[in-house]
Parts: sequence; C-alpha cells; structure tokens
Amino acid sequence: MGERRTLDVDEVLKRQESGELKRRLRGRDLVGFGVGIIIGTGIFTLAGVEAKTHAGPSVTLSFVIGAVVAGLAALCYAELASSVPTAGSAYTYAFATLGEIFAWIIGWDLLLEFALGAAVVSRSWSGYLANLLGLSPEWFGEDATVNVGAVLIIAVLTVVAVVGIKESSWLTNLLVLVKVAVCVLILAVGVFFVKGSNLTPFVPTAQPPSGSSSALHQPVVQAALGLEQSVYGIAGMVTAAAVVFFAYTGFEALANLGEETINPRKDLRVGILGALAVCAVLYIGVSIVLTGMVHYTDIDSGAPLADAFDRVGQHWVGALISLGAVTGLTSVMMVELVTIGRIGFAMGRDGLLPKAIGTAHPRWGTPHRMTIGGAALIAVLAAFVPISALADMVSIGALSAMIIVAVAVPVLRKRRPDLKRPFTVPFSPVLPIITALACFYLTLNLDVMTWIRFAAWLVIGLLIYFFYGRKHSRFAK
Ligand code: ALA
Repeated sequence: MGERRTLDVDEVLKRQESGELKRRLRGRDLVGFGVGIIIGTGIFTLAGVEAKTHAGPSVTLSFVIGAVVAGLAALCYAELASSVPTAGSAYTYAFATLGEIFAWIIGWDLLLEFALGAAVVSRSWSGYLANLLGLSPEWFGEDATVNVGAVLIIAVLTVVAVVGIKESSWLTNLLVLVKVAVCVLILAVGVFFVKGSNLTPFVPTAQPPSGSSSALHQPVVQAALGLEQSVYGIAGMVTAAAVVFFAYTGFEALANLGEETINPRKDLRVGILGALAVCAVLYIGVSIVLTGMVHYTDIDSGAPLADAFDRVGQHWVGALISLGAVTGLTSVMMVELVTIGRIGFAMGRDGLLPKAIGTAHPRWGTPHRMTIGGAALIAVLAAFVPISALADMVSIGALSAMIIVAVAVPVLRKRRPDLKRPFTVPFSPVLPIITALACFYLTLNLDVMTWIRFAAWLVIGLLIYFFYGRKHSRFAK
C-alpha cells in the first residue's frame, strides 16, 4: 500500500494551540449543545412511527438498546476527544491512528450523517409548524412537492451559524431548556393517562408484513439468513432499535468543539456523557408514556406526541408539544450546521477538501465556506426528499463512523501509550471491540435499500479521494 499517511498526534495538539477558532465554551455549554443536537425528530416523530410499524410498546426497549450502544460509543469518543481535543473529531482521531483513507471515509460518513440529519429534522420542523399554525400541508407537509418551510428554516439558521459560535451557543441553550421542559411536561401529565391494556402485549407477536413488501425493504440480516420477512416480535424491536438510533446521534458533534472549549480534557468528557445520560432518561420515559397512552396500532405518524394528548382531551398539552417541537428542532438543526462547518474545516486544512474550505472567516472566526456549502446541499435534499428515505441513512452513517472510532481507541493506545488520557475506556480492548460489534449488528438490521444507498455514497467518496484528496493532501507534497 506504499507509504503510511497518519497525522502526528503531537502536531494535532500543537495546531490547536494556534487557536484560529475562538476558545470560549465550557462543560455546561457542551451539555447544552449535546442535548440541543440529540433530542429531536428521533423522539418527537420516529418513536411513534417505529412503535406503530415495528416494535409496539417494546419500542421502549429499542431506546434502551440504543442508549447502551450509544453509551459504549460515547466512552470511546470521550477517550479520543479528551486525549486529542481538536476540530473534526472522529475524522482527526482516525487520521492520527488508522491513516488518511480511514479519516477520509469517516469524515465523508459524518458529513452524510449531519447533512441528512439536518434535512430530516427541517422537514419534521416544517410539519410541526404547519400543525401549530394551521399552514397548508401543500408547502409544509411531507407530501409537499417542494417543502418551502424546510428550506426557509435552513436558510435562517445558516446565517446564525456563520455569524458565530457564541451566538449559536446561547440561543441553543435557551431552546434546549424549552425542549427539556416539554419532555418533562409529557411525562408529568401523560403518566395519568397511561393504560396498562395498551402496554400488553409488550412485545407484539411477529407477523408477515401486510401488502407486498419488496426484498429491498427487508433488514439485511433477515435477507442474508433467508428468513421469512416479518414485522414486530423481537426482530421488529431490534430493527426499531437500529432506526431510533437516529435519536441518539449528534453527541459526536461535541467532540468537534474541542478547539473551542476552555478546558477540553474535562469539558468534553462532562459534555458527551452528561448529554447522553439526560437524553436516554427522557427518551425511555417518553416512549413508555406514549405507548401507554395510545395503543400502538392507533399512533399518529405525523405528530405522534401531540396527537396522543389530543386523544385524551388535553389539547393544551398537544399545542405546547407542537410549540416545543418547533423550537426544539431548531436547535438540533443549528448544531448540525455548526458541525458540518467544523468537519469541513478540518478536512480542508489537511488538503482532502479544497484549502479555501479550511480557513476561518476573518471577522466571525467560523468556517463559513463549508457551512454555507453544506447548507445549500441540505436545502436541496430537504426540499425534495421524504424523511423516510433519509432517516435510516443517518443511522447507518453514524453507526459506521462509530465502528471506526471504537477501533481507533486500542490502536492509539498501542501506538501512543505515552499520550495523556484524562478519560479512559474501561476494559480496553474488550469494550471497544464489543462496541464495534454492537454497532455493526445494528446496521445489519437496517434494510437492504439503505445499505445500497450507503454503499453508493461511499463509492462517490472514494472516487473523490482518489481523484482529488490523495493528490492534494498535505502528505502528497
Ligand atoms: N438525534 C437527533 C434527532 O433525534 C438527530 O433528531
């Protein structure tokens, strides 16, 4: 394979001292950012959809499985983020451990995850807005030919993200408070409307899919083993776990803010693990309440949580939930936009993307070119592509990136035992290996079509790497 292209860890650490990006965030800002990007469409929309189509009340267990896998991956992220705190997160860790091509693949993966994630969320935002203000679904709904609401919100947030991280940070914190308050409201009021009969059977029995369902929509693991296609049952619960993994994605974005934190080693650890724990508790509670309030077969796929309260006559709660979704989803998109900028910045700096992308704006100190370029792509996707086609891609992109991160932990320990590690994953290499296998197992429960689309994205990425990145990389000179 010729020469080895890995980034020198010491150089990474030195580079962040040069401080081109401004250093002004603390641990609690990161928990805010984390909760801001994590809680979103996953709980507001996908929880209900997956209970209805795959898991029934056992969607709660799907969220538990998701929390365990995301928690394991978070430990790996936290170790790498605390020892190599730098913009580009997993991308840079992969560069420092596994080499340039893995770094490119992971960066390319993360761009997919965050761009499609923002597109999914902007469409669901648009739907909730229509619901709240009684706007025409012709321009704001899932059936819109051009989803105008989604495009508008992306345009507005791009301006905020470009103008500066500090502004995005305080606004994010405000929006996060609203979102957490809405989840707590759902729990506090909803608990009085839970009916035991809705929760039994907890794992509905497996059934053949209704209507004709093509093999392309069968989970890969079932297709590979030649199993009968079915919905519900344990298999349905695991498929739902792979899909609702979407709900936990986003904590990785915190690792990108390494160069902008005051005390990266401590702040990153507190931020990543703290944010994930808060979200897991809220998700599990909200999914029990939702499936306890409405029988899973009757759950609304458009605005499941608001609808559950409308059904029991608590319209004021329904309206507050829609309002909370509209404000809460805004913060998810904002952090996603900020993250795309940071990853592009890191890749441009290394020459894998055009150098101009890797320079910060002279006045605002933000990677404006990548943020605007990414936002343009997101707006196009959000205008035309339905949520269902995008959400599974976010999960597969996130899970694949996590596999590489998990592998990078023991590799970096072996290569650089001397590095200061304020946070270490317990039982390495066993736990990182379990993490990688668990992530891979979840990807196998996504459908064949998702795998085909993901493979296409990787092929495009590799072509760009071999025809552009490899030649312009810092290592090419
Ligand atoms: N985790 C984020 C959400 O649920 C992407 O919307």
